[in-house]
Amino acid sequence: MFWRKFLINQTKELAKYLQSDIQYQGILTEDVFRIAQKELEIYINHKKNWNAKQLFLNEKKEITRTDQANIEKFVSERKKRIPLGYIIGTQSFYGLDFKVNRHTLIPRPETEELVEYALLEITKIKKRSIILADIGTGSGCIITAFLRNLPRNIKLNGVFAIDQNLNALKYAKLNANLLLGKNNGVKFLKGSLLSPILRKKTSLDSLYFILANLPYLSEEEFGGLSLEVSQEEPRIALVGGKYGQELIIQLINEALQEKRKHLEKNFEIFLEISPTISNAIKKYCLSNNIKTKVKKDLSGKDRFLHLSF
Ligand SMILES: C[S@@+](CC[C@H](N)C(=O)[O-])C[C@H]1O[C@@H](n2cnc3c(N)ncnc32)[C@H](O)[C@@H]1O
Repeated sequence: MFWRKFLINQTKELAKYLQSDIQYQGILTEDVFRIAQKELEIYINHKKNWNAKQLFLNEKKEITRTDQANIEKFVSERKKRIPLGYIIGTQSFYGLDFKVNRHTLIPRPETEELVEYALLEITKIKKRSIILADIGTGSGCIITAFLRNLPRNIKLNGVFAIDQNLNALKYAKLNANLLLGKNNGVKFLKGSLLSPILRKKTSLDSLYFILANLPYLSEEEFGGLSLEVSQEEPRIALVGGKYGQELIIQLINEALQEKRKHLEKNFEIFLEISPTISNAIKKYCLSNNIKTKVKKDLSGKDRFLHLSF
């Protein structure tokens, strides 16, 4: 059989599965077909190192039994709801390839906007001793992409990546070593929220520049997710508590307590949130005199918060 015919059949098969998944409901059939095509392209690129052009040039050639078997296996794994990222073990984020496994959330495109937002804001900081931290680092995508793109004139007094999950932390370290080099200066610490960094002695005029994409879904939202996400990706990376905002509020509280102890210290906190918890967090910040800016994502929904105090 020729590549072309084989691929059309497999694309239809994959598109049929995708269409049955809650994530793709409401998306036009031809768009779902294109998503299936793209997934197969990514898989073939991963397996054979062929780009789209090479694939096109091979369309009228005979496909080997081995290539057929590999692609069929890929489609059948997708039909078992295993996400593409976990099958190929990698996900592109901010133009970089991150290694992922079942202990790490697969980086999402909206998180790239958090990195971009924080990169812009850090250039506005005039002062002093900056301590940078990524809380809930997962694959390490935020801290690694941030450091790869940080202007050279910005000096940092410490860089930390925190996660409660040691297995995720190992992957974050691996990704940082591969993409930033072994002497990247990031300290990877296992622990909850800000406690691993607040325990450390720092100068009193420190400014904590915090990036966090913490779990922010409510129990109810988790129940409504596609099985591809809720069964395959780590629950600890997704659910923030019964109502969703609990972990984020806890992080804000830890920072507030530190500020009350040392008034000279400052916090700039960049959070990715779900639009459903935006009002609850804003209200909490208002009642604690925290300056809060909301940034919408590309689809116009409240997705990021910048808190300063
Ligand atoms: C939504 S994932 C984000 C992963 C990665 N930063 C990204 O954007 O793709 C949340 C991460 O927070 C970690 N986490 C959950 N509770 C935590 C806590 N109390 N302290 C630190 N990390 C936590 C999870 O293990 C998970 O890796």
